[in-house]
Amino acid sequence: MYNVEEIRKDFPMLNGIKMHGHPLIYLDNGATTLKPKVVADEVYRYLTTYSGNAHRGDYDLSHQVDEAYSQARHDIATFINAARDEEIVFTSGSTDALNLVAYGYGATHLKAGDEVLLSVAEHASNTLPWFDVANMTGAVIKYIDLDEKGRITMDNVKKAVNEHTKIISLAVVTNVLGYHIPLREICAYAHERGIIVIGDGAQSVPHNVTDVQGDDVDFLAMSAHKMLGPTGIGALYGKYHLLEEMKPTRYGGDSNARYNKDGEVSLKNPPTKFESGTQNIEGVIGFGAAVRYLMNIGMQNIHDHELELRRYAIDKLLALDNVTVYNPESTGAITFNIKGVFAQDAASLFNTYGIAVRAGEHCAKILDNYLGIKATLRVSLYLYNTKEEIDQFIEVCKKGDDWLDAFFG
Ligand SMILES: Cc1ncc(COP(=O)(O)O)c(C=O)c1O
Repeated sequence: MYNVEEIRKDFPMLNGIKMHGHPLIYLDNGATTLKPKVVADEVYRYLTTYSGNAHRGDYDLSHQVDEAYSQARHDIATFINAARDEEIVFTSGSTDALNLVAYGYGATHLKAGDEVLLSVAEHASNTLPWFDVANMTGAVIKYIDLDEKGRITMDNVKKAVNEHTKIISLAVVTNVLGYHIPLREICAYAHERGIIVIGDGAQSVPHNVTDVQGDDVDFLAMSAHKMLGPTGIGALYGKYHLLEEMKPTRYGGDSNARYNKDGEVSLKNPPTKFESGTQNIEGVIGFGAAVRYLMNIGMQNIHDHELELRRYAIDKLLALDNVTVYNPESTGAITFNIKGVFAQDAASLFNTYGIAVRAGEHCAKILDNYLGIKATLRVSLYLYNTKEEIDQFIEVCKKGDDWLDAFFG
């Protein structure tokens, strides 16, 4: 039985933090999430009781760090159903993971005339590295059309794929419209044609049951801070044989088995060859604690809770005359505007009621041509949000006319 009140007790920021005199209502989970105490405790425990380096020392402290580090990798592999722990490469987040695969795999496998398929709904971190890699290699960026609702359909994937397509890189759930792509079907179709599929899991992994083997996705990027973990840590999942083919983008200590002064370098096996230098050990340990916490509650339970809450919010929003909702049917973030009120102004007013929502282009700068609007508001929910919070949010939405008075009156 899902007990949101019990879950809320685990989050210090939901117990006592006030904004403008109101208890915090945090509805910006797509940007980053709050942290349960257990994550902070694990990081604190590392920093205060066994704060050694990993893979370097021959003493107990260092072994303890190695164990905690490997345990986290193992738990993250389990969380996404990877075939082996070595398929998890720690990065600083999704941006870093997408850059690693674009430069480490894309730049070394693409040649002039090859095509990389993206969509206009991508986050900047899944477009800009590809633009650069296309410039470097002569590859061409093409886009899969969105349908009238902003979704990626198999029909449109099939229309965009041709004999030049080598890579498809897509957000599994986009950060603005929040639709879940048909990843499994895309992978099956792509693999029949020798195409590699890269998933940007920044907005999907925190909210869904992830099964990289079931989906057969080749690479998947994720960020810990969007799933209750610390900032500055994330991972790139890659099928082991593809990681073997992939080049590191950074070199240094720990990634090499040996090298000589003539520049002959022999690298270690994945994932170590990608993890040069002292890693973000406390981040890795916090990431591990976060996925254990999530697994304990169960990702399907979390997903169901969020869907129920989303439907509740959508029904209430659609009943308001002064609100436009752009994606009532998706399963991710809710994108909307208060009619006649600039999104940033609206977000500021929500803030005065203690409600954190996101306003702007949400780093998907080529999507505005599609939506035909520059800025939107975004509500993104998570496991600790409640119907009562939605009710309070809706009450503020209803104040639309007052807002116009406040801003322009
Ligand atoms: C879809 C998507 N991809 C990638 C990112 C980048 O994540 P990070 O900033 O954690 O690297 C985000 C962040 O908002 C995102 O929403």
